[in-house]
Amino acid sequence: MRTVAQTPAIRIDSLLSETDERSLAYDVLDGLTRPFKEIPPKHFYDARGSELFEQICELPEYYPTRTEREILHARASEIVERTHAGELVELGSGSAEKARILLAAMSNAGTLRRYVPVDVSEAALEAAAVELVDEFEELNVHGVIGDFERHLDRVPRSRSETPRIVALLGGTIGNFPPGTRRRLLREVGKLLAPSDRLLLGTDLVKDPRRLEAAYDDSQGITAEFNRNVLRVINRELDADFSPEAFEHIAFYDQAREWVEMRLRATRPCSVRVTGLGLRVEFAAGEELRTEISAKFTRERVEADFAAAGLSLECWYTDSDRLFAMSLARRV
Ligand code: AVJ
Repeated sequence: MRTVAQTPAIRIDSLLSETDERSLAYDVLDGLTRPFKEIPPKHFYDARGSELFEQICELPEYYPTRTEREILHARASEIVERTHAGELVELGSGSAEKARILLAAMSNAGTLRRYVPVDVSEAALEAAAVELVDEFEELNVHGVIGDFERHLDRVPRSRSETPRIVALLGGTIGNFPPGTRRRLLREVGKLLAPSDRLLLGTDLVKDPRRLEAAYDDSQGITAEFNRNVLRVINRELDADFSPEAFEHIAFYDQAREWVEMRLRATRPCSVRVTGLGLRVEFAAGEELRTEISAKFTRERVEADFAAAGLSLECWYTDSDRLFAMSLARRV
């Protein structure tokens, strides 16, 4: 296998630095000293967490990944025909498994030029870049190793008249509560020239039993994924959480239209976070929120777009209306 350094078609900028390692410290200090404890979901994804997430994507109960893939297979060529796009910017690209579908459609249309993956995982980004330039000989990859909440200004500008698609897939936008979500969408919108489009994947509101099963699978993979954040804190901040003392909780909050994941202490726990000089007490039954995953309706997506200076152009969904992909422009 070729490496990135041996491949002229690949350029990768790394924006992660010590300030990013400190972001976990900041989030833990902030989140574990509140009356209602909380850790943001981005800290799930170390090597083990990313692997568990890949396993979640293949679970029978977890429909979003396969449904979004199905929509993309059905619509990619239509999206490329409509937009004439030759460049794909993907925020949170991971294994780039879905990007490949869009890049193939661009290649078939003869417009393909460049893929700009943005991800915090260097290993995943480099592996995807090497594979994709092998697969598409006309492709250049300009990757950005960074956090799309903070490094959007470092996403390369379009170099040519080639329209581009900026994609935020998988339902990742659901991790953000409404205010933050709209601010993020507004920032993403700033990457769009008049002929560029945003492609957004959103999980849809549905039967709570179906939603709860997707976040509490029978094999317990999601439970392990959830507890993994405690292992990340143990390792990075020299803490002594006992992950097995915490029970996985997932429930759908009907009023807020989001799934919440929490970790519930099954007994009183006194946790030392040596790296922060902090001691944190958990009462028996106390819960730590680790993720929200918002579920959408078309109306909700349109309202969020309007609040972010965007407007919905096309709405694509599967036959069971489980998941939706939106194509939007800047107003
Ligand atoms: C990666 C944020 C889209 O919310 O469904 C999967 C993460 N959490 N199972 C989601 C997740 C538990 C996932 N996103």
